[in-house]
Amino acid sequence: MSEISAVKSKVIPPSTVGRGKVLSLETLPSDNYWSDGDTTVYFGDSLDFYNKWSSPTVIVSDGAYGILGFEGDTSDHLELPKWYEPHIEGWSNAATARTTLWFWNSEIGWASVHPVLERYGWRYVNANVWNKGMAHIAGNVNTAKIRRFPVVTEMCVQYVFEPRIDDLPIKQWLYREWKRTGLPFNKANEACGVKDVAVRKYLDQGHLWYYPPPQMFVLMAEYANRYGNPEGLPYFSRNGKNPMTFDEWEAMRSTFNCPIGFTNVWDRNPLKGAERITTSTNGGKVVHLNQKPLDLMKLIIEASSKPNDVVWEPFGGLFSASLAAKQTGRLSFAGEIDPTYFQLGLQRLKSPIQPALDYSITG
Ligand SMILES: C[S@@+](CC[C@H](N)C(=O)[O-])C[C@H]1O[C@@H](n2cnc3c(N)ncnc32)[C@H](O)[C@@H]1O
Repeated sequence: MSEISAVKSKVIPPSTVGRGKVLSLETLPSDNYWSDGDTTVYFGDSLDFYNKWSSPTVIVSDGAYGILGFEGDTSDHLELPKWYEPHIEGWSNAATARTTLWFWNSEIGWASVHPVLERYGWRYVNANVWNKGMAHIAGNVNTAKIRRFPVVTEMCVQYVFEPRIDDLPIKQWLYREWKRTGLPFNKANEACGVKDVAVRKYLDQGHLWYYPPPQMFVLMAEYANRYGNPEGLPYFSRNGKNPMTFDEWEAMRSTFNCPIGFTNVWDRNPLKGAERITTSTNGGKVVHLNQKPLDLMKLIIEASSKPNDVVWEPFGGLFSASLAAKQTGRLSFAGEIDPTYFQLGLQRLKSPIQPALDYSITG
């Protein structure tokens, strides 16, 4: 199934943007939109579509890397913050407290864009490393000349959208609410029936802070509203009338299901064989240099969402995240600006036979 006919190959001079493109289809997409009800893809600039898409539970970003990887990619990492900023703004306008962002990039690309993500309310959770191993460089490195260690990794960085209450991040809001009660801080431990965890974790203002699980939040809120200074009532409330409930508190948090047997280093060979979409003519050329492994897309989507949740893929390429969303029972919205990639990606999505996944996650 992964063979797609090339209509015409196009030679692109090495100095131009998009030096990685091996073919351009002569045809244009017949429509700028396709949907089967669950999976929806748009042809064009995703910036024009964000306000049409349902609010995302997961955003998988695999856009510019600063390596001229596709037409429109920048030539270095310095331009990346400007490239991403309007997209990040669009994501922030649509995100909720349940939204997780997976930001794929090189190390320096991610480092450059991180301050923009923070500025728009994305809280860093974890940096994951896709280690492609020696297979990525086999036979391609001249160790006598190279002046650094060969790079065989990509980053996939997890962010969550930082909910705010009274315009404060949750960490600061929890602290402020407890302070308002006039109760000593160690009483929070008594409220939760723990030795020191509540103060040490839930009310900490540094990097040791933990989001209180709903049952602990409810215990703290009940205690504060019963014993706190009556003049400041209610405590831990969003509406100024009642303290937040278990369900309301739980809804403020993104999903994360840690699969068994995985760490933040993903040892996974580069794409090869049938999983790589290639041309059936021109000697089987790879049609998109940046195609991501379907199993890694499935891994991050399953970890951070539930069936029927919504996945966004703003930089579709061959729509790997949309396909992973489809295979795991999620809804998805994607955009792709390049007519060739759009058509090939759509062909892939519509194909009844998909390449086998290398492994799946459980538990
Ligand atoms: C790194 S590739 C994504 C590859 C994809 N993850 C896959 O597995 O096939 C980035 C893609 O984003 C597309 N793109 C860049 N800017 C875009 C924009 N503003 N709107 C929609 N697509 C865009 C590019 O044409 C390119 O195909």
